[in-house]
Amino acid sequence: MLKIGHRGASGHEPENTLRSFLKAIELGADSVEFDVRKSKDGVLMVMHDAAVDRTTNGRGLVKEKTCAELQALDAGLGERVLTVLEAVEFLKGKARIVIELKEPDTLPSLCGVLDIAGPWNPRAITILAFDEAGFEGSNSTWNDLAEFKKIYPHLGVILLFSPYKLMDPEWNLEKVLRTAAEMKADAVAPYFKMVTKEMVDYVHSFPGNPLLIFTWAVDEQGDIERLRQWGIDGIASNFPDRLK
Ligand code: G3P
Ligand code: CA
Repeated sequence: MLKIGHRGASGHEPENTLRSFLKAIELGADSVEFDVRKSKDGVLMVMHDAAVDRTTNGRGLVKEKTCAELQALDAGLGERVLTVLEAVEFLKGKARIVIELKEPDTLPSLCGVLDIAGPWNPRAITILAFDEAGFEGSNSTWNDLAEFKKIYPHLGVILLFSPYKLMDPEWNLEKVLRTAAEMKADAVAPYFKMVTKEMVDYVHSFPGNPLLIFTWAVDEQGDIERLRQWGIDGIASNFPDRLK
């Protein structure tokens, strides 16, 4: 089971910072997840929210600040807001890098960053996205994942989904898995409260195209153990030390 530090070790350190990434690795994470948004001047930044208010001492939207303005903020305990290039250069060779696209139109820039910092071993980089405009501030789509996989077949792609995806009458689990299979994705990742043993087995034995199943934001030991027993392939936790 892959042990993914969610926004680093964000239960211990300021999320999405170098300090958080280092802590995740020290605590035994084999992978580090972070979120990506674009600055006003088009630089890819490691930020979860559309606004800087919750995670820094600033106010306002990420997209209305330049990279220099964002990097002048305090992201907690004196940490800087990172560019994605800084993040991948720091993590390269230390952990698998799991990058969540939070916005549309970030893929070309991301490819540019990965090409500068590469080459990358197979699965050294995995890209994630929801396909649910507005879910938890995300506005990305699985189309970006399909494009990414065409460009970098050796790197990973995971389709994130929440309960809202399956509430959409146009979608069901089978269609999600078919979509994942068609783009040659590596895995799907439902929110952990949706996961059942039957779902894990179904994903693993999806006819013609078995997939892996990951999940995220699992912090309680009981939940982690149950998911592990069901055969989940990867968990992202704010406390990666609990994934041992
Ligand atoms: O790893 C997926 C997970 O990070 C998605 O949710 O809101 O924490 O980015 P969020
Ligand atoms: Ca994320």
